[in-house]
Formats: sequence, C-alpha cells, structure tokens
Amino acid sequence: MYLVIGATGHTGTVIAKRLLAAGKRVRVVGRDRARLSSLVTLGAEPFVADVTNSEAITKAFDGVEAAYVMIPPDLAHPDYAAYQDQVTEAIASGVAAGAPGHIVALSSFGADKQNKTGPIAGTHRMEERLKKIPGLNALYVRAGYFMENTLAQAGAIRQMGVTAGPLKADLKIPMIATRDIGTFAADELIRLEFRGHETQELLGQRDLTMEEATAVIGKAIGRPELQYSQISYENFRAFLVQMGASPRTADLMIEMSEAQNSGHVKPLEARSQRNTTATTYEEFVGEAFVPAYQASSAAARA
Ligand SMILES: NC(=O)c1ccc[n+]([C@@H]2O[C@H](COP(=O)([O-])OP(=O)(O)OC[C@H]3O[C@@H](n4cnc5c(N)ncnc54)[C@H](OP(=O)(O)O)[C@@H]3O)[C@@H](O)[C@H]2O)c1
Repeated sequence: MYLVIGATGHTGTVIAKRLLAAGKRVRVVGRDRARLSSLVTLGAEPFVADVTNSEAITKAFDGVEAAYVMIPPDLAHPDYAAYQDQVTEAIASGVAAGAPGHIVALSSFGADKQNKTGPIAGTHRMEERLKKIPGLNALYVRAGYFMENTLAQAGAIRQMGVTAGPLKADLKIPMIATRDIGTFAADELIRLEFRGHETQELLGQRDLTMEEATAVIGKAIGRPELQYSQISYENFRAFLVQMGASPRTADLMIEMSEAQNSGHVKPLEARSQRNTTATTYEEFVGEAFVPAYQASSAAARA
C-alpha cells in the first residue's frame, strides 16, 4: 500500500494518479472526502485526516510500504513555523509507527540552510527530523520555485498593469511546474531504488528571471510591453496580509524573498539531466496562466 499526503493538491494529485495508473494500491489523505472522490473513482482508498493530528496520521500509515509526504501550506496560521513543526511531528510519528521502507518528502531548494530562509527553514527541520528515524529510506525532493506561484500575477496585471513582486527583476531562479515534481516523485516511488537519506534538487526546465517570465506572460496575453515591477518588502507584506496571510507568515515570506535576493537561498546542484524537468514556462503559461488570466478578467468584468 502507498500513502499520499496532500493528495488533492498540486503535486499529490499527480503522484496518486501516476501510482494508480501503475497498478499500485494507494491510500489518499485529505481533509474532505468529497475532494478525494475523483481519486477514489480511479481506485484510491480515501483517508480523511488533518495532518496536524498525530493519531490520525499514524493510523493512515498502517500497512504502508511507501509514502509521499509534505507539509501542506497554511499561510493564515498565526504561527506558521510552529504549524510546520506540528505537521512534521505528526508525519514522523506515523512513519516511525507504520515503518514504511521508503518515503519521498517534498522539500525546497534552500533546505540545506538552517535558518534565515523563511518557510523553507521548516522543510530543513522536516528533513532533519525524518533523518532520525531508524531504518528509513528517504528521498528529500528540494524543488525550485513553483511556476504556479506566478498565477497570482493575473491580479497584479489587471489592477496595476504590471507583474510585481519582491524578487529582483534580474535574479535567475529555477522555476518548476508542479506536475513535473509529481511525475518525478511518483517514478521514484515506483522504482524504490533510493537508500538511506538522499536529497535531490529539482530545478525545472530552466532558470528564469521575473523579467523573463513577464515577457513570456506578456507575449501570451497579447501585451508584449508588459513590465515587471520589484516592490518593497513593506508593500509585499501588505499584499500578503490582504491575501489572508498572518503577519508572522508575511514576515517569513519576506525573509525568504530576502534570502533569494541575497543568494542565501540558491540551488546547490549544477544543472543536470536528473534535476532538469520537462515543462517549459511557455507551456505552463499557455496551459495554465492564460486560462486563469482570462477567467479572472471575465470575472472582473461581470
Ligand atoms: N511554492 C513554492 O514555490 C514551493 C517551492 C518548493 C517547495 N514548496 C513546498 O510545496 C509544498 C506545497 O505543495 P503543493 O503545492 O503540492 O500543495 P497544495 O497544492 O497546497 O496541496 C496540499 C493539499 O494538502 C491538503 N491539506 C491542506 N491542509 C491540510 C491539513 N491540515 N490536513 C490534511 N490535508 C491538508 C489540501 O487538500 P484538502 O483541502 O483536500 O485537505 C491540499 O490539496 C509546501 O510544503 C512547500 O513548502 C513550495
């Protein structure tokens, strides 16, 4: 039996479907049975649980040979770092009790650093905690910046006529489509060849600056003049809080942006065939950004 935490999310859905397609038995964890139903239709076993609930997560690991684990984001949490540690502890209890031979854990580039990385430090602590579990084979997938993060730019374009964010305009960042993370993780879970505690960065198809990403978006939406505007950390904080992040989460997000801008958070691995994934930013924009932008523009007109 395989276990997938966050099974209705970006990466988890892809993993659950790929494992099911490979003929594996899969238990899918989420908070809502209805949201799990499309995976149940494909043959998955639903398991409704909150990842902060150690007892429930321990039950979810019963009879599991291999699992995908992650810390689902909860940006509204008043103490995001404490929340991350609570989830990590629940997962660690489940792994220790259920003793799956293998787990793939979603981490982040920058998880090599102990602190001054905002929410990424929570993934560092998760890796360190899981490393203490005897007999476990774990693969920590240190993913790059999700292309899906840029979907929020649809609102900025509509409201301000630019894309905007706290990252330097010319900072190269590894941008990855979450489906590529899911595909990679599922294939590793099918092969089960990793041993001990391994880390693997996943850097997307290529590094892109926000300026370059903006040019791709501008071309795709018929606004080739579209520009990126680097905003101050204070304005970024106000935006995050307006979007529902707690003040402490906003502080962590600023710390992460500062860490990226300064180079404290950066990939450690040179690009290789193994850490480079297929989906280009142009493909992502065509398939996901443009429809989302058009839908939000139509909603704003209605
Ligand atoms: N954004 C980035 O650039 C970036 C980069 C590197 C790594 N990461 C990491 O990526 C992770 C997020 O991955 P993702 O995008 O695949 O996640 P996601 O799409 O947000 O999905 C997480 C899923 O977890 C479920 N969930 C949420 N809260 C839960 C709870 N309390 N208990 C049980 N289930 C819960 C939700 O499903 P239900 O609503 O159905 O319960 C949700 O679909 C984070 O750990 C982050 O550190 C992000």
